[in-house]
Amino acid sequence: MGVICCVGGKNTFSWWPLLLCICVAEIALGQVRYSLPEEMATGSVVGNIIQDLGLDIKRLKSGRARIFTEDGSEYIGLNADKGTLVVAKRIDREELCKQVSPCSLHFQIIIENPMELHRIDVEITDINDNAPFFSKKEYDFQVIESASPGARYSLESAKDPDVAHNTLQTYKLNPTDHFKLNVVSRPDGTKYIEMVLQTSLDREKQEEHKLTLTAFDGGNPQKSGSVKINVVVLDANDNAPVFTQSVYRVTVPENASRGTVILRVSATDNDKGANNEVAYSFSKHTDSASSLFNIDPHTGEITVNDVLDYEKAKRYEIDIEATDKGGLTDTSKVLIEVTDLNDNAPVISIISLSNPIPENSAADTVIAMLNIKDLDSDKNGQIRCFISKDLPFKIKSSSTNFYSLISDDVLDRETVPEYNITITAMDEGSPPFSTNKTINLKISDVNDNPPMFTQLLSTAFITENNSPGMSIHSIKASDKDSGNNARISYFLEESQLNGLSASAYFSVNAESGEILAMRSFDYEQTKEFNIRVKAQDGGSPPLSSNVTVKILIQDQNDNPPQVLYPVQTGGSLVAEMVPRSADVGYLVTKVVAVDVDSGQNAWLSYKLQKATDRALFEVGLQNGEIRTIRQVTDKDAVKQRLTVIVEDNGQPSRSATVIVNVVVADSFPEVLSEFTDFTQDKEYNDNLTFYLVLALAVVSFLFITCLVVIISVKIYRWRREQVFYKSSGNLPVIPYYPPLYADVGGTGTLKQALSYEVYGTTDSRMSDMKCSRPFSQSTLTVDHSATRTVPRQVPESENILTEVRSSPSLFHLNP
Ligand SMILES: *[C@@H]1O[C@H](CO)[C@@H](O)[C@H](O)[C@H]1NC(C)=O
Ligand SMILES: *[C@@H]1O[C@H](CO)[C@@H](O)[C@H](O)[C@H]1NC(C)=O
Ligand SMILES: *[C@@H]1O[C@H](CO)[C@@H](O)[C@H](O)[C@H]1NC(C)=O
Ligand SMILES: *[C@@H]1O[C@H](CO)[C@@H](O)[C@H](O)[C@H]1NC(C)=O
Repeated sequence: MGVICCVGGKNTFSWWPLLLCICVAEIALGQVRYSLPEEMATGSVVGNIIQDLGLDIKRLKSGRARIFTEDGSEYIGLNADKGTLVVAKRIDREELCKQVSPCSLHFQIIIENPMELHRIDVEITDINDNAPFFSKKEYDFQVIESASPGARYSLESAKDPDVAHNTLQTYKLNPTDHFKLNVVSRPDGTKYIEMVLQTSLDREKQEEHKLTLTAFDGGNPQKSGSVKINVVVLDANDNAPVFTQSVYRVTVPENASRGTVILRVSATDNDKGANNEVAYSFSKHTDSASSLFNIDPHTGEITVNDVLDYEKAKRYEIDIEATDKGGLTDTSKVLIEVTDLNDNAPVISIISLSNPIPENSAADTVIAMLNIKDLDSDKNGQIRCFISKDLPFKIKSSSTNFYSLISDDVLDRETVPEYNITITAMDEGSPPFSTNKTINLKISDVNDNPPMFTQLLSTAFITENNSPGMSIHSIKASDKDSGNNARISYFLEESQLNGLSASAYFSVNAESGEILAMRSFDYEQTKEFNIRVKAQDGGSPPLSSNVTVKILIQDQNDNPPQVLYPVQTGGSLVAEMVPRSADVGYLVTKVVAVDVDSGQNAWLSYKLQKATDRALFEVGLQNGEIRTIRQVTDKDAVKQRLTVIVEDNGQPSRSATVIVNVVVADSFPEVLSEFTDFTQDKEYNDNLTFYLVLALAVVSFLFITCLVVIISVKIYRWRREQVFYKSSGNLPVIPYYPPLYADVGGTGTLKQALSYEVYGTTDSRMSDMKCSRPFSQSTLTVDHSATRTVPRQVPESENILTEVRSSPSLFHLNP
């Protein structure tokens, strides 16, 4: 153990590291100073008091030298054997003196016998036995990331109990990328350290910074102490939200219902906590389309908010925004494509329409032009257009979306007056949509049908003696056309009837077709008329047709029967002579009467109205023959007077009476003798001769006439037979029909006489017999008005009377 002895004043000391320096002061007033580093091992020698105090060991022993401290501390012990001071226990300068420097131990060495007091100072020198230290192992700092550079954070200083060089000298902070260390001296000389933010922090990059602060002392070897500094970067809203995509694309069918989620957008915010919360919205300046959609501010779900319609808008562009609590935003774009669905039916519009169309329109006439649209696109908008197959029309496409409806056949209003043409337009979508449009097409009339009479020949009847203007008949025609084309007017066609124009007889009401008689008709003159009536429609040009109307005049019982025989003359008396020998059934005479009417009206019947002796004669009801019904006797009166009534069968019936004088006698003289009474006249005897001559002439004439008649009849029959043979001869015998007097109309007298002869009998034998009856069977004509001549003005139609009158079988007793 080397000892450095320092001799000098109190203020003299040298500082030698790693060397123990013991200074022994001169024993002035018994005072010695030593210097001792702290922390010397126990037993280490501090100093030798024998030398320094000049004492010897004996003295020490004898003087029972010992150490006295005022505070009783016993750091230093006395080795009396050696006379050395040794370290008695560990000496820690820091404990002993804290920061006081210099640090000394003071004690006394007391030696007795004699009492000696020696003061000893031991200066304890510092050694670097303490490292700097911090009161905590680590510090936690919270620094908001938005803190700007220059921000200061004070740190606790480290401590080092050592003094002087050995105490704390420097600090070091590691790493220093964000923070640097600043040592600040206070005005009072004390120092403190602070951390200064050098470059700004980013929580999002590094949320925690771990720093180490190391404090160094100046000892040798140097000691250090360190502390961990945890800097937690607090979040600041320094990050805007960021959308995951700059453009979102989505397609949505147009029938998407309200509330359908079509897309979910999201934005991320790197901030933390509340700064991380993002609200989504549509940009304010987005167009109205955004009202169709909704965005959920929290989830970012975009939903359909209204009815979409591809036909209105095919795509929407919506700007969206994400905003965090701090008001930082990001924008993005949403492109919404609407896809088409077949949701529109085709629409048929009629551009032009010809309605009605005339029935004579040629095929391929354009009736309507149509425009058909479908708002859908592609297949959904492709249209097929058609009409029912059974209609005489067809649809032709003239160009895209344009169609024409044309006639495909001839039309006839009279068959089908109108058509309901249903046009169907159908798109190709699936399912397809179809639209119907019905055109009610009217066919207009063309005058293509003439009026038609229900009968081509009609027959009308009118009774004679009609009043002029009387309606005879009504004809009717119909016309299948319509309107004016079917308005029928009736006209009487001009023709000649009996030498007069038809309009003199008839007129036709143009509107009603009623045929009127213009004059009164006489059946006995004309029995029928044939007129033509024309019906004409009101078309242009008009069409017409005609009908023949046969007008039959019907007979009326307007003519009484006319007695042809016996002739009723005013004056002369005609009498039939019946021989007294006449048998039962003797034909006295025959009343001949005609009726110019026809049918029943000319059907005559004969009755005996009055008779001198009713039991003697009868009249044939049908033939007017007066016959005896019993044997004539002598008792019968010579003069018989019969009144025969001739009645026709009309309603009411008309009649004529004739008086037949019959003379029952065998000879003329007898007759004549009787005649005076008969005629109640006497003068006729004077003229008898004249009458006889006259009678002779008449008989001759009658005979000739009869002969002519017979020959005529024969010729007639023979000719008839010839005709029969020619017409195969099979004709049945024409039955007798009495009213063949129908021929009466103006054919003359002779014919009427013949008629009587030829047809007047059912049995021709009788007729023959009558014609060839002997002239002995004579007729006596007695002129009642014997005093005057017989009036000769006989009506033309009664010529026959003249003829008959001049028959030779008559006696004209003209006095
Ligand atoms: C939309 O249309 C499709 C196809 O026609 C159909 O299958 C679907 O159900 C419809 N959706 C709605 C919401 O009507
Ligand atoms: C056409 O339709 C109308 C109205 O529905 C109807 O009155 C008429 O009878 C129809 N015509 C034909 C020929 O079907
Ligand atoms: C169009 O008419 C056709 C045939 O008359 C019919 O089958 C169809 O249902 C109608 N369509 C519409 C939309 O009325
Ligand atoms: C009358 O009609 C017929 C056909 O019914 C026709 O042949 C004739 O010419 C017409 N006569 C007149 C005068 O119109």
